[in-house]
Amino acid sequence: MDVIIQSAGAGRAAQAVADFIAQALTDKPNLVLGLATGSTMESVYEQLVRKHQKEGLDFSRCRTFNLDEYVGLPAEDPCSYHDFMRQRLFDKVNIDPRNTHLPDGMASDLDAECARYERLIAASGGIDLQVLGIGLNGHIGFNEPSSAFESRTRVQLLSQVTLDQNAPFFPKPKRVPRTAITMGVGTILEARRCLLLAIGPEKANIVAQAIEGPLTRMVTASALQLHSSCTFVLDGPAAAQLQKSGSYQHGIPGQSAGISLLSPMGTQLSSSASPRASLRSSPDTP
Ligand code: GLP
Repeated sequence: MDVIIQSAGAGRAAQAVADFIAQALTDKPNLVLGLATGSTMESVYEQLVRKHQKEGLDFSRCRTFNLDEYVGLPAEDPCSYHDFMRQRLFDKVNIDPRNTHLPDGMASDLDAECARYERLIAASGGIDLQVLGIGLNGHIGFNEPSSAFESRTRVQLLSQVTLDQNAPFFPKPKRVPRTAITMGVGTILEARRCLLLAIGPEKANIVAQAIEGPLTRMVTASALQLHSSCTFVLDGPAAAQLQKSGSYQHGIPGQSAGISLLSPMGTQLSSSASPRASLRSSPDTP
């Protein structure tokens, strides 16, 4: 696992993630991109939209799979993750809507829907690059504490911490659905590359547990320690409780967009300059 601390601010950390996604997409136009929701991702998507509008970043062959969706919310519901993605990204870039995938939280047979989602990911050749946020309880996707590291896409009962964290996104008196479909920890670990972005002081404690704590199902992000090609990108406040801060890579103020990311082979890569993002090859499906 690589850790990059971007002290120049949350915007710069998000920019580094957006730059890396853009480079990966340029290198592999039919990239299979795993996407996340949550407020942390909003500025990443803003910057990808800007890159599309100003620099012609092309999404026409990209295929996307989101981590999760609430059970019981129609895709048209403004609180659904379908709507979040349309508003923040899909409707603003040239992606083919048929290439965008989220679990269907309205499916009559939810278990069958989970199995279908897994099959769809596999049929696409697997996820090249999975972007992640982190919940206050250390969840990735909606893999709540006690989720098995081998877990697959399934229905997950949400914890009180998560219900409280996500409540501000729901107008009162509408409450956060109590269940969601989420990719499993095992599903996420199969992505060829993972990139987790965490910003803000409220994430500092759980980020330190995920990076420096023991592998534990109680902090599902700690499973990323097992991944051979995973990078955590943090702003200064989110990195504040790391004990071994000197061991990690620090972004240089003023050159923050060009922070480097390491490939699985340890080759120095840049998210903004000429060296190319490294993604292991996947089947070249249309
Ligand atoms: C939700 C999503 C997670 C995301 C988390 C972080 O719970 N299911 O995938 O990581 O939100 O949210 P935020 O970025 O708002 O802190």
